[in-house]
Parts: sequence; C-alpha cells; structure tokens
Amino acid sequence: MRHLMSPMDFSTEELDQLLNLANDIEKNPSKYAHACAGKKLATCFYEPSTRTRLSFEAAMLNLGGSVLGFSSADSSSASKGESVSDTIRVISCYADICAMRHPKEGAPLVASLHSRIPVINAGDGGHQHPTQTLTDLLTVHSLKGRLSDLTIGLCGDLKFGRTVHSLINALIRYPGIRFVLISPEELKVPSYIREEVLEKNQIPYEEIIRLEDAMEKLDILYTTRVQRERFFNEEDYVRMKDFYILDKAKMELAPKDMLVLHPLPRVNEISVEIDDDPRAVYFKQAQYGVYVRMALILTLLEIEV
Ligand code: NCD
Repeated sequence: MRHLMSPMDFSTEELDQLLNLANDIEKNPSKYAHACAGKKLATCFYEPSTRTRLSFEAAMLNLGGSVLGFSSADSSSASKGESVSDTIRVISCYADICAMRHPKEGAPLVASLHSRIPVINAGDGGHQHPTQTLTDLLTVHSLKGRLSDLTIGLCGDLKFGRTVHSLINALIRYPGIRFVLISPEELKVPSYIREEVLEKNQIPYEEIIRLEDAMEKLDILYTTRVQRERFFNEEDYVRMKDFYILDKAKMELAPKDMLVLHPLPRVNEISVEIDDDPRAVYFKQAQYGVYVRMALILTLLEIEV
C-alpha cells in the first residue's frame, strides 16, 4: 500500500505517468466516470480549505465514488482530544482512501503509519503540500509543454508557504531548472531547503527582494499569499502582507509567454486587473487540480481503466 506524503514519493517516471493519466482524464472524462464505483474517499481536514478539499471530493465523485469526512478540527473528535493515529484507525474502517490536512507538520505521516488505507498529505503545517505540486506540475506541463529548462520565480511567503517547499523539491529533478526566489528578508526560503535541496543538488538560484527586478527573465511566476496563520504576531503579518502586489505595470515587464500561477486563495498579492491577461492561469490551475487528483486516487487505489 502506498501513501503520498511528499512529491518525492514518486519517481520522475511515475510522475510522468500520473500527468499523462491526468491529461487523458481531461480529454476522456466519460471513460473514468465509474472507475471508483463502490469506493469511498474520506477527507479529514483539521485546517481550512476550499480548493484542496472540494477538488478531492469532486475528483472522487467524477470517478463514480463517494465521499465522507470533516472540514474542521472542531467538528471532529480531535476537539475531544482524540489522536490522529486513533482517528485514522477508525477512518480505515469507513473508507478506502483518505486525504488529510493538518496544522502540525508530520501529522499525515503519523496517520499513514497507523492506517490500513492510503493516506494523502493534503497539506501539513508549513511543511509540504504534494497534491498542490502535482497540480502545479500538470499546469506547467500542459500549458508550457515541458517541465525542464525553465526559470521559475517563486514570490511571496517562501518561509511558511508549503506549496513552494513541495514545488522546489519536485522541480529540481528536471534538467535546466533555475529559481529566482523573490521575498522580503523575513520570509526567505528556510535554510534547510536552501542548503539540503538547492545547494546540495547544485541548482542555480538567486534570492532577490524586488519583483520588478525578476520579471523579464521568468518563464513562470509562482505567486503566494503571506501565510497569516503561521505568524507569531499580527504586526509582522500586517507589515508583510502587501509587500508584493502583481499589477498591470509589473506584467508589462514580463515576457509575452510567461505564466502566472498561484495556488490560491489570493488575498492582495495579485490585482484583479490582471485576471483577464492570458498569462494569468491560476483559475485554470484550480481546474487541473481536479484531473490530477483523479489520477492520484486511481494510482493509489491501483485501479486501471
Ligand atoms: C495553499 C495551502 O493550503 O497551502 N492553498 C491550497 O491548497 N491551494 C496555499 C495557501 O493557503 O496560501
């Protein structure tokens, strides 16, 4: 039985297969409409979510399966003090596969150690968010036609942004990847990622503060929200929250074929005035999230269509 805790749990060949499957699902949805008939997905979300939880549910429903779950810690027995390991033992009796989001780093991993069903990490604290990365890879692969030879600007909260951490881990395995890390000093990529991931693998990267200085060299701009819930005090958040606002003027500095991605939710970091720019693909990205989660559910349940 396989779980998904980090994008590194899949080899690049397996990732390719998963993305190909997602592309086929996009083209031929009816072929997959009953693939998970009789199967149940549990969504155990101890932290807020719109896209991740609902796209998992939509994915399972599109596959002809059913869904059950909870969407906040308050509405589960966690509020009575139940441990994640006890909860997953019980969920294993009710469902065939589980997507879990938790504010504590490593909680889905603990769950996987006690589970009889595949567990998917749907975001653990400021650590990883592998299914967002699968979504991001599918978006870039589908719209750019490649995952290699790309200059990727990662902008915003690179310290607490788990989507950024997972994406860096996944992308370094493709040739010709370079990163421009754009953040205020306080929100730089954690040193364990800089040292253990980027430097160890000799991945070219630069760290800069001004978004304007990066725009012209980027193939992809991956923007993120300042992660308010992970700050120790509100003043720091208020000081940081509007540090970057991507607007029309900045988009004029960018190549004509640069893509703007964002895992969403957006707060202020992308002005709505660029939503109609063909380079702004964050809503398409959310749609790709459904196809890739369908592919993931089929893969982990070992269902072949
Ligand atoms: C992200 C997350 O939860 O980490 N959202 C998502 O799943 N699409 C990004 C965020 O909350 O900023």
